[in-house]
Amino acid sequence: MSQSLHAPASPRSFQSVLVTGGAGFIGSHVIRRLLAEHSTMVLVNLDALTYAGNLANLKDVESNPRYHFQRGDIRDESLVTQLFREHAFDAVIHLAAESHVDRSITHPLAFLETNILGTANLLNVARQQWSERRCMETSLFYHVSTDEVYGSLGAEGLFSETTPYDPRSPYSASKASSDHVVRAYHHTYGMPIVISNCSNNYGSHQFPEKLIPLMIRNIVDSRPLPIYGEGINIRDWLWVEDHAAAIDTILHTGWVGDTYNIGGLNEWRNIDLVRKLIELVDAELGREPGFSDSLITFVKDRAGHDMRYAIDASHLEARLGWKPSITFEQGLTSTVQWYLANGAWLEDVTSGDYQKYYEQHYDNR
Ligand code: NAD
Ligand code: DAU
Repeated sequence: MSQSLHAPASPRSFQSVLVTGGAGFIGSHVIRRLLAEHSTMVLVNLDALTYAGNLANLKDVESNPRYHFQRGDIRDESLVTQLFREHAFDAVIHLAAESHVDRSITHPLAFLETNILGTANLLNVARQQWSERRCMETSLFYHVSTDEVYGSLGAEGLFSETTPYDPRSPYSASKASSDHVVRAYHHTYGMPIVISNCSNNYGSHQFPEKLIPLMIRNIVDSRPLPIYGEGINIRDWLWVEDHAAAIDTILHTGWVGDTYNIGGLNEWRNIDLVRKLIELVDAELGREPGFSDSLITFVKDRAGHDMRYAIDASHLEARLGWKPSITFEQGLTSTVQWYLANGAWLEDVTSGDYQKYYEQHYDNR
C-alpha cells in the first residue's frame, strides 16, 4: 500500500465531476445518487454508448441543470482534454469499461483497449490538466474496479485488500492492469487516487446479458434458463444502490492512495440463486410454486470459470463506516418487481430500440 496514504483533513467537497460510463448499469445509479445527495455538484457523463450504454437509464435526471451528457470515448485524448478545459473537473469517477466476462472470452482485445488504454488516457489527461491548474492536491481520481482481479477462491476464505492479484479472464486481467496503472500514477506522479473493488452487483437497469436480469426475463417468457456447468460457482451479491452509496462515501472520505473492497457477505451458488428467482418471479406472476422449475437447463461451462468470489469489506466499514443498507431478500424482491414493472425498458433493450435514444433526444440539441 502507498507510503503516502493519508486521510482527508475533512470530508472533501467536489464541484465539477467527470463520471465515465454513466449510461451503464452502475454509472447511472452513481449519477442519480450524487445529484440527489450533493446539491452543488455538477456532473459530466462521458460515455461512448456501446451496446451497454443506455441513456434511458438516466431519463429522470436528463433535464437537471447540474447534469451534462457527452457522447465520446475515454481513449479520445483531445476530447477528454477539451472536457477538462471546459469544466475544470476536480474529480473523476471512472466506471467506463467493457464489463461482461463472456464477451471478453470471445473479444478480448476490446477489453484491453478500453479498460487499460482508456484508463491510461484518462489518467494522463488528468495529470496534465491538474498539474497545469496547480490543483493536483485538491483533486481526486476514483477508479471503480472489481473483485475479479483477485482470482478465484476455494471453499474457504475471503478477498481482502492485500490478497495478491490473480486475474484469470481477459476481463479481469484488463481490470487488474488498469488498477496497476492507477497505482503507478499515484506512486510515480503523486496523483491523488482511490480504488474500490466490488463484488457482483444486482438491481434495476442491468443489461440482460448478466445472470440476474437474464434469468428474470427468461422466467417471465418461459424460456430456458442456461446454467453454466453444474451451477455450483459462487458469487457474492450486492445491491447496486449500496455500491453507489459506497462510492459516494469513498469519494468524499476515502483515504488518498487507499483501496476499499466493497461487498455484503452474501454468497450464493448460481443454481440456488436461479431457484430463488424462479420462486420470486412465479409468485409475483401468480403462478403455481414450481411452475418454471423445468426451464433450468445446464449448458457448457464458461471457459476458465472462476469458482468462488467473496469479499471482506471490513476495511471499508471500519475506516469509513459504510455498510449495506438492505437485505438480499429485500433487494432481490424489489429488483424482480422493477423488471416486471418495466417491461418496456427490457423490451427496448432486447429489440435494440434503446440505441435510438441518443438520436431521438440529443442529436438535435
Ligand atoms: P456496464 O457494461 O453496464 O456499463 C459500462 C458503460 O461504459 C456503458 O455505458 C458503456 O457505454 C461505457 N463504455 C464502454 N466503453 C467505453 C469507452 N471506450 N468510452 C466511454 N464509455 C465506454 O458496466 P457496469 O456493470 O455498470 O460496470 C461499471 C464499472 O464497474 C466497470 O468498470 C466494472 O468493471 C465495474 N464493476 C462492475 C460490477 C458489476 O457487477 N456489474 C462489479 C464490480 C465492478
Ligand atoms: O464480481 C464482479 C463482476 O461481476 C463484475 O466485475 C463484472 O463486470 C460482472 O459482469 C460480474 O461478473 P460475473 O461473470 O460474475 O457475472 P455474470 O452475471 O456474467 O455471471 C454470474 C455467474 O452466473 C457466473 O458464475 C456465470 C454464471 N452464469 C452467467 C450467465 C450470464 C450462468 O450460469 N449462466 C448465464 O447465462
